[in-house]
Amino acid sequence: MTGRARTGVLISGRGSNMKALIEAARGRDFPAEIALVLSDKPQAAGLEAARAAGVAVEALDTRGFAGKPEFEAAVTAALAAADIELICLAGFMRILSAAFVERWRGRILNIHPSLLPDLKGLHTHERALAEARAEHGCTVHFVTADLDAGPIVAQARVPVLRDDDPDRLAARVLVEEHRIYPQALDAVARAVRAARNAIG
Ligand code: GRF
Repeated sequence: MTGRARTGVLISGRGSNMKALIEAARGRDFPAEIALVLSDKPQAAGLEAARAAGVAVEALDTRGFAGKPEFEAAVTAALAAADIELICLAGFMRILSAAFVERWRGRILNIHPSLLPDLKGLHTHERALAEARAEHGCTVHFVTADLDAGPIVAQARVPVLRDDDPDRLAARVLVEEHRIYPQALDAVARAVRAARNAIG
């Protein structure tokens, strides 16, 4: 298929969601291609997996930059060099500046391990258990300047079971993350591509 939306995946760690996106994008009719995987951690396991899958990778160690503006300028340059039009954050553990996010408005997604707007921030599985919630899950949302608060694209629920611990609950949520992130990218990439083609 021509004109697939060139997508950059930003990671900091193991990259299991990244792998799910790469796998989905192998599908003949998938409207996005994973054209770049970028990590702020040179040691991120996901980089090796991306390389092994034949995807271009870039490691930008934040310690090599004077500050956030310089780091983000390098990210922007890498995305531009790869002709990226859509970004998926997938376990990317840095908060991007409002200016960066604004430039990518409507074209930057994140996956968060909770049923947003509940449980924004970190340690969501521990908190779901501590609050004795009956349900937990994950959310794909557009990224805005407000942390974990952008418009929701997709959500999946899982039950919290009586004998759950954070790891077991996280594993059950992760299965759903790997299912809904590709679905959300499919939907958003179709919209981005349609808008691009309408503009000409
Ligand atoms: C996932 O739980 C995701 O929801 C959160 O960070 C974790 C990343 O895992 N944002 P992985 O690197 O995709 O395996």
